[in-house]
Amino acid sequence: MRSVCILGTGYVGLVTGACLAEMGNRVTCVDIDARRIRSLQAGEVPFCEPGLNELVQRNIVSKRLSFSSEYSVGISGADVIFLCLPTPSSPSGAADTRILRSAVESLAPLISPPYPVIVNKSTAPVGTCSLLKRLLQKNNLGLHSVQVVSNPEFLREGSAISDFMHPDRVVIGAQDSAAAASIESLYAPLDTTVLITDWKTSEMIKYASNAYLATKISFVNEVANVCELVGADVSQVTAGMGLDRRIGSSFLRPGVGYGGSCFPKDVLALTHVAVMHNMHPRLLRAVMEVNADQAKRVLHKLKGQLGDLDGALIGVWGIAYKPDTDDIREAPAIEIIRLLEQEGARVRAYDPVAMPKAAPNLPDVTMCSDAYDAAVGADAVLLLTEWKEFESVDLHRVAASMSTPILIDGRNVIDQAKAESAGFRYTGVGRGTSTVAGFGRQERMQRAS
Ligand code: UDX
Repeated sequence: MRSVCILGTGYVGLVTGACLAEMGNRVTCVDIDARRIRSLQAGEVPFCEPGLNELVQRNIVSKRLSFSSEYSVGISGADVIFLCLPTPSSPSGAADTRILRSAVESLAPLISPPYPVIVNKSTAPVGTCSLLKRLLQKNNLGLHSVQVVSNPEFLREGSAISDFMHPDRVVIGAQDSAAAASIESLYAPLDTTVLITDWKTSEMIKYASNAYLATKISFVNEVANVCELVGADVSQVTAGMGLDRRIGSSFLRPGVGYGGSCFPKDVLALTHVAVMHNMHPRLLRAVMEVNADQAKRVLHKLKGQLGDLDGALIGVWGIAYKPDTDDIREAPAIEIIRLLEQEGARVRAYDPVAMPKAAPNLPDVTMCSDAYDAAVGADAVLLLTEWKEFESVDLHRVAASMSTPILIDGRNVIDQAKAESAGFRYTGVGRGTSTVAGFGRQERMQRAS
């Protein structure tokens, strides 16, 4: 059992702290936001993450997990300090490490031998661990022997606990093998591969992983756009691609583009690192360009159906940047709604959980009680987040309530044939016109058995 301090109680900090507590460690999570700490001490998690409320409450009761707004409280007695702090994009596109640096300058005077290992879990540019080590030494000369370790996170919102407890890999970047072993032992209860590298390599693995995933998404969106022009069906195209083990079937879902607090920021940050080293990151720039255009394509499709949008009433299903979260950061839906309003359209929107966070950002949007309410009287409905509940909406009821039954399905959630039989003019993403689709006899027999 180790004594762990977590600085930062956002998605990464809180999930890391609660999971390490669940694994038997004594964990103190620290945040300068006293209000957030008070709600956490009451077992209330300030954002939607499936299972996290229960995990936090269970570990508060078992006294393995506690919260404080005082660094000194969290750090005292800790043998590991995790930095789980925001590194937002700065105007230049570089990751802004000010919060990270100021946290290290605050903690340096508070630690004494035997020093805790300082673990950076925040997504930060290559070279950050070296910078943090220098800051520690500058702020507490005796800190030559303090160890800094990079341990990037690979958590997806909506499945963060499962991703922590069942990781594909744990990456540890260190200069000292004892420090690496100390952090590796924290993850010993997990059945996974631990990759130990130097600092820079670990920091680069995080950026390269996110940039590659974003590239996969922009690639499949561009393929979908070509499919629309030639009449191929992208869902069959990606099924055919995914059967190639070198490609794999995951992360090949076309849609309205990626959002969230990571992909946009991390692709931009990696682009900035390349430019700072006099390299022209053509592919990364194209990934961002395709992504920005993908949201705008929804407007083109809508105008193709309705013509001028001035005065149109549009229903929007889904605001969060992905299902199973209330996070609206960089959500394509926010951008699309803003474009609709710029064209003079009025918007009614529904999201199962993200409306409280979205409403202050969308003051002119009518927030609705359900998908049916958002469609009443609408000239068109846009499906922008693939919430499961949208798969079972009564399409006949929706079509009958609309002014014109137009459905732009930005995430290919709705069955086109069902939509059309309910009276909709249906447009998806990269949906072809093929009626013959499926697997060959051999595969059918295997799947049937
Ligand atoms: C991502 C990375 O997956 C995770 O490893 C990293 O630690 C943080 O960033 P997250 O942003 O939570 O996680 O969600 P993810 O499920 O990766 O989706 C990111 C965006 O890509 C969402 O907007 C989603 O809608 C979009 N997406 C994802 C697609 O458009 N198509 C896909 O096939 C998959």
